[in-house]
Amino acid sequence: MKTRIRTLLANGASGRECMVAGWVRSVRASREVAFVTLNDGSDMAGLQVVADQGLANFDSVCRLGTGAALRVHGTLVASPAAGQQWELHATIVEIIGEADDAYPLQKKRHTFEYLRTIAHLRPRTNTLGAVFRLRSRLAQAVHRFFAERDFLYAHTPIITASDCEGAGELFRVTTLDAVAPPLAAGQPDFEQDFFGQKTGLTVSGQLEGELLALAFSDIYTFGPTFRAENSNTPRHAAEFWMIEPEMAFADLADDAELAEEFIRYLCRFALEECADDMAFFDKQIEKGLLERIRQVAEADFVRMDYGDAIERLQRSGTAFSYPVEWGLDLQTEHERYLSEQVVGGPVFILNYPKEIKAFYMRQNSDGRTVAAMDLLVPKVGEIIGGSQREERLDRLTTRMAEMGISQEPLWWYLDSRRWGSCPHAGFGLGFERLVMYLTGMDNIRDVIPFPRTPRHAEF
Ligand code: 4AD
Ligand code: MG
Repeated sequence: MKTRIRTLLANGASGRECMVAGWVRSVRASREVAFVTLNDGSDMAGLQVVADQGLANFDSVCRLGTGAALRVHGTLVASPAAGQQWELHATIVEIIGEADDAYPLQKKRHTFEYLRTIAHLRPRTNTLGAVFRLRSRLAQAVHRFFAERDFLYAHTPIITASDCEGAGELFRVTTLDAVAPPLAAGQPDFEQDFFGQKTGLTVSGQLEGELLALAFSDIYTFGPTFRAENSNTPRHAAEFWMIEPEMAFADLADDAELAEEFIRYLCRFALEECADDMAFFDKQIEKGLLERIRQVAEADFVRMDYGDAIERLQRSGTAFSYPVEWGLDLQTEHERYLSEQVVGGPVFILNYPKEIKAFYMRQNSDGRTVAAMDLLVPKVGEIIGGSQREERLDRLTTRMAEMGISQEPLWWYLDSRRWGSCPHAGFGLGFERLVMYLTGMDNIRDVIPFPRTPRHAEF
């Protein structure tokens, strides 16, 4: 049985016999001895393997290329050299998969742009390795957070007939013939489609999540989310993962409190349980990252009304590319200014104008705003979007009529306001934005193993 390198190093004991398996990062060979750095993805440092002339295949070991796959049997001994505590003195080196010098990940540093063109190999680099390890641990921490609070983990559908956010960004799902679909009145006849209606990939599990919250009180979803928005930015992906908690008998203040606790929990988790990889990000990706995350883990998040945010932006004297005016949505440049310059940390913007928000948000008594919240953080801008939901049937249907949203296909959603309706609230955290925030990585394409963006779905 192989031992993972991280486990081996954590439980190192001189003289321990073991077997490890992984990929060669580097080889330094002389006539008598070869030093091979082996990495199995369990940590960044890998393990130094020492192979000497006594090995039957010593010459082959000396000629090993970066990227080759090995299985090594040997004895762990304290390393006399600086830079590592242990090294493995090999008794058998099995060469499982060769790699020649056409292997693209030779020693030199590569740009992230280049690495995106070899997404099939980049998980073997230090940076992407650390990012994807952190991503995996964080996903587990998300489940842990909600399990500790007795939230029900709900699976909501990926194929759906409703565009929750109403932004028209649905990817179509169909089995109709693409070239010659059956027509009705000159249009594709979705009556004849697989589901007998127009369907797409979900942009949010919220509407279904609300139904479940009205049965289980507190629920969350964590699943893939799809948006066909053609915005080629470092913060948007066409396929991303979203965490959406929903709480019954809760208002906007409760919602913000949960979001704040959640983000602080994940920051602490990263600092405490992923310390090695976080130290790497601090050193190689963003100087001061650890301090920034530490502050967030301890800070009280500021809450600011949308109206105040607009005033602060207008008074800032900064020339923004997009206009700042009550009634307009905040752009990333505004969001970053507010969190980076005005607050110097995470900030909730509350109570947005109803015209720029979705139909389901609860209408405030001022008649012009809704109980919405966005959490803005330095570097990334919006990381969370959420709201208290409109639980009053008459207000909801009136608003839908104003926005031209047909009631008929949402009859099931409206039913939830008919029987046992109650105040409820929730939010969505973009998982990739969280990973960007915690690693300091600047581009969403570098925090998901196989990014989906306009014109990119090869691997
Ligand atoms: O603000 P959004 O659109 O909110 C919703 O979808 C609500 N239904 C959530 C809820 O209340 N249950 O999206 C929520 C978050 C954003 O704050 C952002 O972090 C992320 O999802 N997000 C994206 N991440 C990557 N690529 C995209 N194209 C994203 N669009 C949204
Ligand atoms: Mg949003």
